Amino acid sequence: MNKTYFIETYGCQMNVADSELVESLLQKEGYTKASQLDKADAIFVNTCAIREHAEEKVHSQLGRYDLIKKEKPETIIGVLGCMAQSLKHDLLENRPFVDIILGPDSYRRLPELLRRKTEDSKSLVDTTLSRFEVYDDLFPSRNEGVNAWISIMRGCDKFCTFCIVPFTRGRERSRSVDSIIAEATQAVQDGFSEITLLGQNVNSYSHDQMDFHHLLDDVAQVPGLKRIRYTSPHPQDMTDELLKTMAKHDTICNYVHLPLQAGNDRILKRMNRTYTRDHFVNLALRIRDYLPNVGLSTDIIVGFPGETEAEFQDTLEVMEILKFDSAFNFKYSPRRGTKASEYDDQVDENVKQDRLVRVIELQKKHTLERNSELVGSIQTVLVEKESKRSSAQWAGRTDSNKWVIFDKEDVQIQSMVQLQITKATGISLHGELVKQAEAA
Ligand code: SAH
Ligand code: SF4
Ligand code: F3S
Repeated sequence: MNKTYFIETYGCQMNVADSELVESLLQKEGYTKASQLDKADAIFVNTCAIREHAEEKVHSQLGRYDLIKKEKPETIIGVLGCMAQSLKHDLLENRPFVDIILGPDSYRRLPELLRRKTEDSKSLVDTTLSRFEVYDDLFPSRNEGVNAWISIMRGCDKFCTFCIVPFTRGRERSRSVDSIIAEATQAVQDGFSEITLLGQNVNSYSHDQMDFHHLLDDVAQVPGLKRIRYTSPHPQDMTDELLKTMAKHDTICNYVHLPLQAGNDRILKRMNRTYTRDHFVNLALRIRDYLPNVGLSTDIIVGFPGETEAEFQDTLEVMEILKFDSAFNFKYSPRRGTKASEYDDQVDENVKQDRLVRVIELQKKHTLERNSELVGSIQTVLVEKESKRSSAQWAGRTDSNKWVIFDKEDVQIQSMVQLQITKATGISLHGELVKQAEAA
């Protein structure tokens, strides 16, 4: 026996959390983690289909697996996640070496398929989407660290016209509050200081008349928990109750990721985002009212079908008005099966590239401005890891989600420290230790 596995994960945090579920299923089957990809008896890749670039990365990995399989034909190759869901036929046809294909709602079948695989030479596939599967009773095998990911809902019913997620992840469904609290409590006992609640539409959480703000209020009271974050909320479901709950609890981080996508009403409508530019701007200002010093980040798509130069400038204008702390910026990438991919006014690649560069430039300026405002202030930081630049320094985040680098001195990882901010760059902050905060 003593079989080993290796799992590689692409895509969003939901996939990271799903991979931890898959690992726990594998460990129950007697598998242990291999130290290296090419040493494993079973190799899995948890895939993302959000943009072409994400798929390309997985395709190039699959090329590597093909070579491993040629050398060691007994290796089991499994493709999991969103690409497995959306590209099953393509994979079956063009990647015959793949043994197992499982969509995001089918992971429970992994042990059974692994056992069957020893007798069966053809590819085993399950990409059935479920209205109910939330893996409520399965505990993930978490990787070490400061933060524990907890999926609280799955799927998405919003159907933004650019997005593949409603097709790869299926309908929205939420877990019970009790099971989430139990998982959070266990994570704290296992030594995690921070919890991030996850969902593709985390704030449309709903279970037995409990909404997201009820859940957040309960999670905030889990003893010993230092910090709570959540991602990704949708602007449409950002309620005042949620903002009040955030303001009420110190443990809930002062940070909101609020995806704008575009700043022009015609484009927003075509994207089916269900809000207008004014609604979004007012919401962002209301968030800043409720939560002074909140960190506000966003997602922006440039070159959505039909986007004119003037419409693109509306996006820049909203950025100027709000000055986000940070932004994830993307060129629109047509996804097969989505409505927008069929629009006949796709934007030229060079135009998309030009707009992307301009958005990135503007955001860089805003991030530096926002970060600079903090120079001289004192910030509470949770120490998370060693700085990439120097082994003599730690890196940790403010509750507004900004990284701060500082000298280690005698500070321990996972502690909360007070830092005086001494310097700001466009990426992170630098600080000096003021005093160690009382253990939370
Ligand atoms: N549920 C989350 C988004 C998950 S996808 C939300 O609504 O906020 C993360 C980001 O990827 C999206 O916010 C969007 O900016 C980007 N994205 C999604 N589909 C895309 C596509 N087809 N092309 C380019 N970017 C896309
Ligand atoms: Fe995709 Fe829109 Fe759902 Fe987010 S809300 S996952 S962008 S369809
Ligand atoms: Fe990618 Fe699927 Fe997440 S498409 S972004 S891994 S939900």
